[in-house]
Amino acid sequence: MTEAASRSAAGPGERLRTLVIIPTYNERENLPPIVDRVRAAVPEADILVVDDGSPDGTGAVADEIAANDAQIQVLHRDQKAGLGAAYVAGFRLGLAAGYDVLVEMDADGSHAPEQLPRLLAAIGHSDLVLGSRWVPGGQVLNWPRSRELLSRGGNLYTRLALGIDLHDATGGYRAYRRSVLQTIDLSSIASEGYCFQVDLAWRAVQAGFRVTEVPITFAERERGESKMSGNIVREALLRVTEWGAAHRVAQLRRLVGRTRESVGSRSD
Ligand code: GDD
Ligand code: MN
Repeated sequence: MTEAASRSAAGPGERLRTLVIIPTYNERENLPPIVDRVRAAVPEADILVVDDGSPDGTGAVADEIAANDAQIQVLHRDQKAGLGAAYVAGFRLGLAAGYDVLVEMDADGSHAPEQLPRLLAAIGHSDLVLGSRWVPGGQVLNWPRSRELLSRGGNLYTRLALGIDLHDATGGYRAYRRSVLQTIDLSSIASEGYCFQVDLAWRAVQAGFRVTEVPITFAERERGESKMSGNIVREALLRVTEWGAAHRVAQLRRLVGRTRESVGSRSD
């Protein structure tokens, strides 16, 4: 990847090197078209495919594409270890290579690369941009009702449990400034499944970063299968509840501490 080739415009006067990270597990039919669309939509951005040893040979397809394009790289991992672990590995590589902006994007076409310029424009005034299905202008196409309810319910629960003002903290189409990923202790991330998304959004909010939501249209995949599972839902529910409880306890401790201080200073 050449430095000059991978610079992209994001915000007035800013030239940011951007890496689009695409995790794959059994996406051999989906990968070539999504890569073509990313290259067309944001020609300056580089691409990193993170494949977890897909049994369908997605890794070999990715290698073939990368062999013909200096702006595309492939990270091969031995076995399916979850979306969270795949992204953490991709982030480490991207940070080490000096990218300014790291993008998360699904391989199955649900995240339209044509909308990426809008996300990158917002990174000009944000540290983390969330592509959001659940803000005005955002939408989901062709999802079964059950999946829509899961996403809406999951986001409502997240908002209440954590007390954050985000409408789509579970979404997987987003752009991070490198400072966010450098601040977050990546080695402490235990989230394996899709709650990884909430984990990172939550850590960014807590660290005081500017988080912005930009409406996106999420279209259900046409080929292959979703890797969503009952275990992924259970992990998310458990972890979000834990984070919420820990947050409330910390808030209460601070309140008690402040009350003690003010009582103490009054009696001085
Ligand atoms: N390397 C790797 N390892 N990739 C994975 C793994 C894994 O264990 N699990 C899933 N992926 C890849 C898929 O191949 C795809 O490119 C992307 O991650 C998203 O997986 P899907 O299975 O298509 O996810 P989804 O459509 O059900 O869920 C999407 O929406 C959720 C919110 O509703 C994703 O964007 C999730 O991140 C998001 O939380
Ligand atoms: Mn999908």
